[in-house]
Amino acid sequence: MDKTADLLTLVSGGEPFLDKGVCFGSPRPCHVFMMDLIRRLSGKPDIRVLEIGSWLGASLLTWDAALAKYNDGKGALTSVDPHNPYFTPPVEATPFERQFARIMETGLAYDIFRHNTGCIKASGGFTHLRAGSKNALPQLRDGHFDVVYVDGDHRYSAAKFDLMEAQRLLADGGYLCGDDLIIQAEDCDPEFLAETREQESVRMPDTDIRFFPGVTAAVAEVLGPLPTRKGFWAVQKNGSKWDAVTFDDIEAEVPNHFPDDIRDAILKDLAE
Ligand SMILES: C[S@@+](CC[C@H](N)C(=O)[O-])C[C@H]1O[C@@H](n2cnc3c(N)ncnc32)[C@H](O)[C@@H]1O
Repeated sequence: MDKTADLLTLVSGGEPFLDKGVCFGSPRPCHVFMMDLIRRLSGKPDIRVLEIGSWLGASLLTWDAALAKYNDGKGALTSVDPHNPYFTPPVEATPFERQFARIMETGLAYDIFRHNTGCIKASGGFTHLRAGSKNALPQLRDGHFDVVYVDGDHRYSAAKFDLMEAQRLLADGGYLCGDDLIIQAEDCDPEFLAETREQESVRMPDTDIRFFPGVTAAVAEVLGPLPTRKGFWAVQKNGSKWDAVTFDDIEAEVPNHFPDDIRDAILKDLAE
């Protein structure tokens, strides 16, 4: 008997479980931009999404909601995530980062992930490759996916590997996207970036800004400077070119699996 699974079903009423305490350190407007990418692909017989790094499944549920809204549910979702502890929170870690590490270590994060992904309805189903991207991605076929979302290990070597593989895995016309590009390399001292890029997150000296130096360095090397909104970025593969996407003029659609307070916080954050 899996008591945690039963408890999650009871407290959620069989719906996704995305309590604010376990899910978000801050509102995540990226979900609105993800919805918009699927809108741009709507009308395809099948939209295949690959997500590298899924945590509790919130972003998978967003892809699923977008497929339902913009493509009659037609599509398939694949997640690559080892669901194993992969970083030790630094001394100055935020309470959210500490809790993130703790529920990963106890396995509760994986239980919640399984509960949430059990709610996916995409016509082509859901596949979880429980492995790190280094092992899982090379097994996937060239050009197989219409969207690849890179949100796994944020440290430089891992993030760069994921971006390079993502490029190979994307079909022509598809979107490569990611989150947490909080500082662009051109706005960062190159020495500081080189020293810190293998850390998960750091504080920019003399500021309160925490950012992900590995994401900053890897995106700059693989794709160059990119327009971002709230740290989210996307490029479209057009033949041998990668065209940057701007999200200036979009429908702000927050998927239904978010509790009302998170939905309001996302919309407020987006309006700022
Ligand atoms: C930032 S969280 C993902 C958040 C999620 N996409 C969302 O928006 O709700 C990072 C995830 O990456 C996963 N991860 C860590 N190392 C990884 C690796 N080498 N390959 C794939 N995923 C990895 C972690 O297990 C964690 O679940």
